Amino acid sequence: MHITPRMRGALVGTVLGLLTLGATTTTASALTLPPANGQFDYQIGGAYTPLSSVAIVDRDRNDAPAAGKYDVCYVNAFQTQPDEITWWKTNHPDLLLKNSSGAYVKDTTWGEILLDTSTAAKRTAIAAIVDGWIDGCGAAGYQAIEPDNLDSWTRSQRLLTQAENQAMATLLASHAHADDLAIAQKNAVELAPVGRMIGFDFAIAEECQVYDECDGYTATYGDEVYEIEYDDNGGQANFDAACSARGATLSIIYRDRDVLPLGDPSYVYQWC
Ligand SMILES: *[C@@H]1O[C@H](CO)[C@@H](O)[C@H](O)[C@H]1NC(C)=O
Repeated sequence: MHITPRMRGALVGTVLGLLTLGATTTTASALTLPPANGQFDYQIGGAYTPLSSVAIVDRDRNDAPAAGKYDVCYVNAFQTQPDEITWWKTNHPDLLLKNSSGAYVKDTTWGEILLDTSTAAKRTAIAAIVDGWIDGCGAAGYQAIEPDNLDSWTRSQRLLTQAENQAMATLLASHAHADDLAIAQKNAVELAPVGRMIGFDFAIAEECQVYDECDGYTATYGDEVYEIEYDDNGGQANFDAACSARGATLSIIYRDRDVLPLGDPSYVYQWC
């Protein structure tokens, strides 16, 4: 799936040098941003009818957008979805990251193989695939894209770099904008200082209260930050603290880790 506990401080990429990558900025006059501080619902673990009070719904690209909402389309752009590994191995084995022992490099938490963003040629080949998904999101009626696992370099056995993922993200942002779609920075607060240069329009930040990263996102995106805190990390007290700190200006939700659909016994959802 998606949400990966970050390896805190394990790899702090060099900011110097990044500035030379991704220098192409894109302008996108026709795209629309999600409403600031609008009620957000994260449905990537399964789609369901949102509350009428919800303004923004985020769903997997294989699900239809929610009628009458601002719709964000989840695409796993830097790792495979677990159920697409066979497809990748069959069609694009060269784009899956392997280490020098020949083992696939995995995000073991979610059972996903990292995509190999290490060369310009591979990034172009990955973009050719993900861009097709982005086109599909646009055709289905979505307004924005959430490309997940931007922070995959932190799980790469040091085989990928922050700069390489920045360059990959720049390709995807350019394509989203060409489709008049907004695109979110998902996690990787280390890239927020260059988020506008990459082309990101807003941020979806997981657990920024827990990791004290929220200011890093708001410094770039202002009130265009959509925050998710989880019930298995910090619990209700952490969510309440986030709401006290930023709930008046930012859209903050509380969810179960697997982002289960409404009706599941483990479903958790609060908003402030
Ligand atoms: C390659 O990855 C496998 C699986 O994580 C690991 O057991 C092995 O030690 C790695 N090899 C190298 C050279 O890092």
